[in-house]
Amino acid sequence: MRKPVIAGNWKMFKLLNEAVETVLALKPLVANANHCEVVIAPVFTVLKTISDRLEGSNIKLAAQDCAIQNDFGAHTGEVAPVMLKDAGCSHVIVGHSERRQFYGETDESVNWKSMAALAAELTAIVCVGEHLAERESGNAEDVVRTQLEGGLSGLTANDLERIIIAYEPVWAIGTGKTATPEQAQEMHGFIRNCIGNTHGENAAEGMRILYGGSVKPDNISTLMSQPDVDGALVGGASLEAESFAKIVNYR
Ligand code: 13P
Repeated sequence: MRKPVIAGNWKMFKLLNEAVETVLALKPLVANANHCEVVIAPVFTVLKTISDRLEGSNIKLAAQDCAIQNDFGAHTGEVAPVMLKDAGCSHVIVGHSERRQFYGETDESVNWKSMAALAAELTAIVCVGEHLAERESGNAEDVVRTQLEGGLSGLTANDLERIIIAYEPVWAIGTGKTATPEQAQEMHGFIRNCIGNTHGENAAEGMRILYGGSVKPDNISTLMSQPDVDGALVGGASLEAESFAKIVNYR
């Protein structure tokens, strides 16, 4: 059985005070959520403080990106996965479409970051997803397969135990235009198939595949009712404790 994961990506929102406020409001609202893993991903600068505030709670902490390796050195502006671990993270998001689109992320850098995250004993949430034009031209599956093969290249089936895939169709992010449950299921099933081909049936069966893109309290249950949807990566609706808690408590 795959344990569902509901993760909130706070993107570049919330100063320290607001982040703490949200977390303190969230803690009691999700305290009984044993049916899933709850993860939040605030900005780098608040991670340590939030980690301290999360002590004893069931909420896990993720960073939104990481450096491509763990060797300390002259890498101005980068944050190594071991440093994220040191700050209290258990997870890190890599390859988000916003990083691919605006900050030069490639399948190769996603691959390096995933390996570096695993070396630091973090779980990597590897994001994939097609643009609207790619879907409309019938290339969505090819795009996602290429991202998966590139991003997971060189990782063993064992390594994949600490990888989570997030399928986030770019056209659904922040647009209010959620993929239908059928569209999500179709791509999630395809992703599981791809992993089966590259890493074997066991790795494919165990892989948690999250859906992301305009997930809200009112569409989470139908998405979660799909057999290959194992959770959600939530942007906008994770910023408010009440709406994120409703998503976490979807059943
Ligand atoms: P929204 O939920 O705001 O569409 O964002 C999705 C996302 O990008 C999560 O990583």
